[in-house]
Amino acid sequence: MMLDWDGWTWTAQQGLRPIETTAEPQLLTAGPAAAAPARDTDSPLELYRIPEGGRHANMYLLRQGHYGIIIDPSCQLPLDLQLQTSPMQPLLLLATHGHYDHIAQADRWRTDTGAPLLCHPQTQAYLADPALNLSPQFDRPRRYQAPERLLEDGDLLPWTEDFSIRVLHLPGHTGGDCVYLVVQSAALDQPQLAFTGDFLFENSVGRTDFPGGDYWEQQHSLETFAGLLQTWPDTMLFLPGHGPVFGLPAALHNPWLKPPEQS
Ligand SMILES: [Fe+2]
Repeated sequence: MMLDWDGWTWTAQQGLRPIETTAEPQLLTAGPAAAAPARDTDSPLELYRIPEGGRHANMYLLRQGHYGIIIDPSCQLPLDLQLQTSPMQPLLLLATHGHYDHIAQADRWRTDTGAPLLCHPQTQAYLADPALNLSPQFDRPRRYQAPERLLEDGDLLPWTEDFSIRVLHLPGHTGGDCVYLVVQSAALDQPQLAFTGDFLFENSVGRTDFPGGDYWEQQHSLETFAGLLQTWPDTMLFLPGHGPVFGLPAALHNPWLKPPEQS
């Protein structure tokens, strides 16, 4: 199966660099399973974006050494490819929000890999309710298993020795929208990556007219996020739920993002 993907690596010495897409994505390449998780701090951070073909939502695979995270498990990868990711232990599944095009394969990934799903408490209601997760609009009514762990605004999720995941709860598009920041343990206020789901795209933001959406809540979330942007490194990448990856300069020019003093 040919996968549409692009990717980046991050090292302290070189920062973020794109991976040549003519290369085989290592994450999906068959290899011997590791006997035990490695805590190799020399391993680069690797990031892959795999747009889901039918619904065009981005699923991301993030790994350092044997530690892996899937953000928005929307893609149904062939079983053999899924199993080839098994050397990533532990593997975590993060949902930015509960719309079907972002969680479509959440239960499949859990069944196949045993990985837990983590999300905001309000996203739990979306998982259980087809009227909220919009699955009838894409496919058929779908209800998903409850998440294994709930995440709150401000949580710092330890991941590898080098990196942690900071949770920002930014409702509006849905009640449970979260942006996940990848931060170095040595610089918690300087994120390298921001997985924005449908909260923020290049030059636009998520809709608020679906069940559970709230325009004014979104405005407050955008103002909060715009304030944070002013303090973040200009090398960071934003990984949206749809469309292309973009950098801080593009985020600063997003007409929807105005810091509090400019509103
Ligand atoms: Fe959405």
